[in-house]
Amino acid sequence: MSLSVALTKGRLEKETVAMLEACGYGTERLKNKGRALVFPDTKKDIRYFLVKANDCITYVEHGVADIGVVGKDTLMEGGKDYYEMLDLKIGRCRFIVAGLAGANPLEKSGHIRIGSKYPNVALDYFHSKGRDIEVIKIDGSVELAPVLGLTDGIVDIMETGATLKENGLVVYDTAAELSARVIVNKASFKMKRDEIMEFISDLERMVNHAEEN
Ligand code: PRP
Repeated sequence: MSLSVALTKGRLEKETVAMLEACGYGTERLKNKGRALVFPDTKKDIRYFLVKANDCITYVEHGVADIGVVGKDTLMEGGKDYYEMLDLKIGRCRFIVAGLAGANPLEKSGHIRIGSKYPNVALDYFHSKGRDIEVIKIDGSVELAPVLGLTDGIVDIMETGATLKENGLVVYDTAAELSARVIVNKASFKMKRDEIMEFISDLERMVNHAEEN
């Protein structure tokens, strides 16, 4: 049975495609993609889609994709109706709590306002610290919110730390370590177990190989 695989485009895309290629999958179309959105594997009975992270979960939850590759950040924020099968250990970054120097939002008394692209993650984190907060949803350039005085801090992704540093923000805590994960539709896992396990085993070998070197 053929497999449909939703890959997250953008930051994770290159590393994911390189990993598939290293596993011996036919990634030529994914590497020369033009304006296409569906890419047949040139060696295996697989078709790939390139989608935004949130949509990756949606396609997997609805079974349109049997498998998805998506960041743990999006999984922590979004739906839950899938199996999370494998940590690919690529696209590594962190959820951090940051604010202006000398203004740790965790130490603020009274009302705390936090800006984030990930309101659920921000709420869960502060609730775990016994603090209630008001979250202001920000869609991009989250670092601006405390700089302009909109919020007391942010919960955001940090990869190199350059954006925080250049905007005078300080990391006060790490909320979670993040990386790309393989998720699987629950019904597909029953119907196409062998094909799915073969795909996952191939990737798992590559993860272990990368860890050894
Ligand atoms: C992400 C994140 C930070 C930045 C962190 O934003 O929200 O702003 O990357 O990376 P760094 O630690 O390497 O500086 P992204 O670049 O995806 O764009 P956005 O602000 O438009 O969401």
